Amino acid sequence: MPLLGVNIDHVATVRQARRTNEPDPVHAAVLAEMGGADSITVHLREDRRHIQDRDVRLLREMVRVRLNLEMAVSDDILLVAIAIRPDMATLVPEKREEITTEGGLDVRSMRGRVQECVARLHEVGIRVSLFIDPDVTQVELAAQAGAEAVELHTGTYADARTPAEMDEQLDLLTEAGQFAIAQGLQLNMGHGLTYRNVRRVAEINGLHELNIGHSIVSQAMLVGFERAVREMKQLITV
Ligand code: PXP
Repeated sequence: MPLLGVNIDHVATVRQARRTNEPDPVHAAVLAEMGGADSITVHLREDRRHIQDRDVRLLREMVRVRLNLEMAVSDDILLVAIAIRPDMATLVPEKREEITTEGGLDVRSMRGRVQECVARLHEVGIRVSLFIDPDVTQVELAAQAGAEAVELHTGTYADARTPAEMDEQLDLLTEAGQFAIAQGLQLNMGHGLTYRNVRRVAEINGLHELNIGHSIVSQAMLVGFERAVREMKQLITV
């Protein structure tokens, strides 16, 4: 079975809704580790809409499992990554207007910049993964760019509405995944995975790690709600 990487971006989203200091994603990372997370992922977006620079610095100090930094192919963020030294950097496409990462990185059109970014991360010992669509050509280009890993985008699988569409997307993930392993790449997958749809992806042969965020943060909020209300009620009841 694959390892579980937990993406804690949306703990920071709740904090940023009030620009306050709770809930702290660093605290969430510690709890995620206690729950068995094999790695912690954060996406330091260029617009800093959720995770802040301070979070990444503190996470580097506090996280005992592997820290995976999702990042755009951008000079500013590259400097942050070089300073902080996550265990792995996952290069993702980034658009300011998107709600979440919309598709995989197009390694073909960004070849030169991706290769340079991979080389600069390698210089300081950071392993690199490329977040790409489940497409054999993109996998091949990822291997040529020098990445150690690929993370195949499971968003289209997650959005599939019929069993036939789901099967089709699973086939694409399986085919691109097996090709990645044959190229010597570590195979990760993620995006849009939930308690309902994760199982079939988790069964793909040779899968190293799944990265899951929104669904876990949502579930955490709901399973903790009753207790949180009870604790507040106790405080105000004399
Ligand atoms: N992997 C990558 C590269 C992502 O950009 C994201 C979203 O930040 C995830 C995994 C996690 O996706 P989700 O929050 O839908 O589980």
